[in-house]
Parts: sequence; structure tokens; C-alpha cells
Amino acid sequence: MRHQIVIIGGGPSGLLLGQLLHRRGIDAVVLERKTRDYVLGRVRAGVLETGLVGLMEEAGVADRLHAEGLIHDGTQIGFDGELFHIDFKALTGTPVIVYGQTEVTRDLYDAREAASLRTEFDVDHVVIHDADGDKPCVTYQQDGAEHRIDCDFIAGCDGFHGVSRQTIPLGARQEYEKTYPFGWLGVLSRTPPVHHELIYANSPRGFALCSMRNENLSRYYIQCALSDHPEDWTDTAFWAELKRRIPAEAADSLVTGPTIEKSIAPLRSFVTEPMRWGRLFLCGDAAHIVPPTGAKGLNTAASDVHYLYNALRQFYEESDSEGIDRYSERALLRVWKAERFSWWFSSLLHRYPHQDPFDLKMQQADIAFLRDNDAQQRAFAENYVGLPY
Ligand code: FAD
Ligand code: DHB
Repeated sequence: MRHQIVIIGGGPSGLLLGQLLHRRGIDAVVLERKTRDYVLGRVRAGVLETGLVGLMEEAGVADRLHAEGLIHDGTQIGFDGELFHIDFKALTGTPVIVYGQTEVTRDLYDAREAASLRTEFDVDHVVIHDADGDKPCVTYQQDGAEHRIDCDFIAGCDGFHGVSRQTIPLGARQEYEKTYPFGWLGVLSRTPPVHHELIYANSPRGFALCSMRNENLSRYYIQCALSDHPEDWTDTAFWAELKRRIPAEAADSLVTGPTIEKSIAPLRSFVTEPMRWGRLFLCGDAAHIVPPTGAKGLNTAASDVHYLYNALRQFYEESDSEGIDRYSERALLRVWKAERFSWWFSSLLHRYPHQDPFDLKMQQADIAFLRDNDAQQRAFAENYVGLPY
């Protein structure tokens, strides 16, 4: 069996890359470790940069996104008992779109199926062979049988715990990592959002985020201890804590109800360099992780897809390997900026266990500067809506 490209991982990166390549007549198979339903059941990101929306349009899968996505022209920041507003549209001319990662993934799977593109689910023991040579291949097991696919290139879109990054010898990669001493407890509830914009809140009790999926589906997060378990938190305890962390004007209008999903995610900053090893390209969470503050995870995966898709297109359509040769450098330049923004925005809003009174004053001055300074607001808005590709 042969395909031009083997894409390992059927999350948003792998699916978007596959669909873009398909529109250019470049043939790619997707190998996914889990089932389709499992992938679609993972509640994750919710805010899309217009760069990602543009890629969805180019992939021919943006109709539902345009019909159902919510355009957000700005965001609210909760600080010192009050909300202040950052107006993305006025500062940058660009909004963001609220549309769940689950929906992005569903639209991409639907398009893949409609085009009868090959996707193998429930694959096990995926092994990449000879990525540093001219004739790479990928082997895997499925239903107890061993399979092999020969290819030109491999796209490692298999997330942080995937096999692709591990295939690159330790001596050929450099990893940078920072872990954070807290997690995010997230819930989904069939209630109207507390505000028409997202609220990112700094409070003496820790961070909180009020987000949404649609007018009757809300997504809320609070900073929690890493040792907490979702089942430790009753719905009542969650709502009470959220109310304490957001300004009174929001807390008073919060509509609570039974939660339909509750999970805890650790926070991590991580980058591996380079993002290419021979004929293997790392893309998305396989190469980097950001803490979720600022919604850069999915959007940074999308910018990798943009660079990789264009590199492969240039290779097949123009017989030019410039894009391939510069993929890692181009992708990493933008990745590090997203890492910086996510790290900084996390530091602005969370309570850290070892913060001393001076650290707290610095944090408060940093937020007050954002609230009061036009240049800082513009820099924030440019990062939030997404730096150019
Ligand atoms: P993934 O979505 O991880 O997809 C990788 C796919 O590869 C998966 O389907 C996996 O099953 C498959 N796979 C793994 N190993 C193998 C293998 N060996 N063989 C075959 N397939 C394999 N970002 C935000 O912006 N906001 C958020 O609120 C947010 N919340 C998050 C919560 C959690 C718990 C996590 C883990 C991430 C969150 N993110 C969030 C980040 C965002 O969801 C990711 O950046 C995004 O999913 C990256 O897409 P990806 O396709 O690169 O990786
Ligand atoms: C969501 C998650 C984020 O990390 C973020 O910064 C904004 C929104 C969300 O899940 O809706």
C-alpha cells in the first residue's frame, strides 16, 4: 500500500492538513489511535483565530462555522472587582470566532467521509521507519493484523503523547518545558453564557474563565490544585467558587445549572526543536503545548498546518523543496511567540503558590497597565486575534 503522505493522528491538525492536501489532489491517509466518536467527544478549545477560519474556508469546510460560530469583537478582563474591555475589532480590525474544537473536528471528519478519503481508526503500535532516508514507511496493527504504508512524507499530528516526536533521536532534538503548579477545572453546562463576551478573571482566590459554545451552552473554568479530582467538585461547589472569582456584576447574573462535563487539565509550556527530521514533520501538539490561557493551542496547531500544507503544495506542484526545508524555522518563529503570549497571560491571571507580596504587586501593576495603556492593549489584541502567518 502506498500514499503520498501518511498523517499520524486524526485530531484537528491531521484532519485539516488532510483536507487541504486533498483539495490540491495530494493524497494522504490518516491513522488514528482512537475511534471517531472518542475524538469527537473530547471537549477542548473554543476560540478560533481568523487564520484558522481561513484555512477551514480553503479546505471547503467552513459553512457551518460561518452559520453557527459566534463573532467576538473583544473580551472582558476581571480585575479588582470590576470588568474592563479590550476591543479587538477597534485595535486590530479583526475579531475571533467562538466555535468548539469538537465542531471543527466533526466538520472535517464529515468532509473526509463525503470525499471517501481513507482514515484508519483504532490503529495500534504505529511505527515510523526510515524517516531520515529516501523511502520512509509506517507500520501499524489493526484488529490483530500488521499493515505497512510506503510514502513520500510523514506528518506527525499525533499530539503530545504520540509516537512521532519520540521517533526523532534524542541527540537530534532539543526540548524546552515548563510546568505550572496548578490545573484548570472545566465544566460545560446547558445554561446561557454569563456575558456576551468571554471573561478572563484575576482574583485573590485564583483564575476563572467564563466562555461559551452557543447561546445556551456555557464553558467555565477555574484554577484548581493539581491534586484535585473532578469528582471532588460538586456542581454547587463549582458555581460558588466561580462566583467568588468573577466581579459582582457578572456573578449576580450568572445562570447556574447541572454540568454535563467536568474535567481537569494540567498546564504546560513545551516546545521541541526542530519540527522536522528528514521526511517526518511534527505539527500541532506533537511539537508544542501552551497553557490554555489565551486559547492558543488549537490556533498554533493551525499555523503549523498552514506552513506544512504550503510546503508540501510547493513540493508537489512546483518541484520546489524550499518550503519543506524552511518549515521548522517558519513554524517555530510563530510558535515561540504564542508560547510567550500564553505564558505571560497565564502569569497575569493565576495565583502562584510562591508569590510573595512584591510578586503580587507586580502582577497587579501588569494588569493595571493593560487596562490603562493603549499600546499594551493593542499588543494584547494582536496576539489574541492571532499574529500573521
Ligand atoms: P490532538 O488534538 O491531541 O490530536 C492528536 C490525535 O492523534 C488524537 O486524536 C490522538 O488520539 C491521536 N494519536 C495519538 N497518538 C497516536 C498514535 N501513536 N497513532 C495514531 N494516532 C495517535 N486549547 C485551547 O486553545 N483551549 C482549550 O481550552 C484547550 N483545552 C485543552 C484541554 C485538554 C485536556 C488538552 C489535552 C488540550 C487542550 N487544548 C486547548 C489544546 C488544543 O485542544 C490542542 O492544541 C489541539 O487539540 C491540538 O490538535 P492536534 O491535532 O495537534 O492534537
Ligand atoms: C476556551 C478555552 C480557553 O483556553 C480560552 O482561553 C478561551 C476559551 C474555551 O474552551 O471556550
